[in-house]
Amino acid sequence: MQRKIVTEAKNLTKSYGTKSYSATVLKGIDLTVYKDDFIAIMGASGSGKTTLLNILSTIDKPTGGTVALDGNDVTKMSNKELSRLRRDKIGFVFQDYNLLDTMTLEDNIALPLTLNSGNAAQTKQKAEALAQTFGLSEHLKKYPYQLSGGQKQRGAVCRALITEPEIIFTDEPTGALDSKASRELMECLRAVNQSGQATILMVTHDAYCASYANEVYILSDGVIKCRISRGEDAREFFNAISKATQNIKEL
Ligand SMILES: Nc1ncnc2c1ncn2[C@@H]1O[C@H](COP(=O)(O)OP(=O)(O)O)[C@@H](O)[C@H]1O
Ligand SMILES: [Mg+2]
Repeated sequence: MQRKIVTEAKNLTKSYGTKSYSATVLKGIDLTVYKDDFIAIMGASGSGKTTLLNILSTIDKPTGGTVALDGNDVTKMSNKELSRLRRDKIGFVFQDYNLLDTMTLEDNIALPLTLNSGNAAQTKQKAEALAQTFGLSEHLKKYPYQLSGGQKQRGAVCRALITEPEIIFTDEPTGALDSKASRELMECLRAVNQSGQATILMVTHDAYCASYANEVYILSDGVIKCRISRGEDAREFFNAISKATQNIKEL
């Protein structure tokens, strides 16, 4: 059976420019994300990872090329259509968690469904189930200031998953975490991907984090220079990623 395409970008380009300055950051990117993929985009600082993620996730517009999400060309959508698409089909996880300080973890996780005026009992059940998967069951009544960075970020992933989005976009999700919390977060992301609950596109500059994905794409000079797939052996995958990133200067 053919796998469903979630996101497809064709010949994406992005230039930034003013009168005195112009730079082409993306120079023709083709990328397809299938349902249940877990893709990590790597590249040196300034290589255009965030630019690419923002365009794929409809936050930014490309200079040229197309981006389709669930078969619809997002570059042609109105702002209203885009906000509906983001609400219904996309989950975002930011580096700095973006939890609301005045709400408990449980209410933060439930928020997207509360805003969509979902069934309260069902919403609570979903929030509790996700919290359990992410090791947060005992922390649901706490406020963000009472949680560690790792707990907050796992909560942010639960909040992104509660609407059952087509895809999760995340830019450096471990950027503010120590190595233990990073590992725990990546283990959780890998688990929800493996169980068929999440299609994930993640940007990271960390080879160890990337090694939790199934596919690693390396962005360099505005194009995807190299694609590495996970085989049977996790250690071998990590070594292949490290080697490929060393070959790309400045990374
Ligand atoms: N709004 C902008 N205006 C002009 N240049 C930008 C803008 N955003 C990013 N850039 C430039 O595009 C390049 C890629 O940036 P970015 O996508 O943030 O890279 P990365 O996430 O890989 O570090 C950088 O050289 C950056 O300075
Ligand atoms: Mg970035």
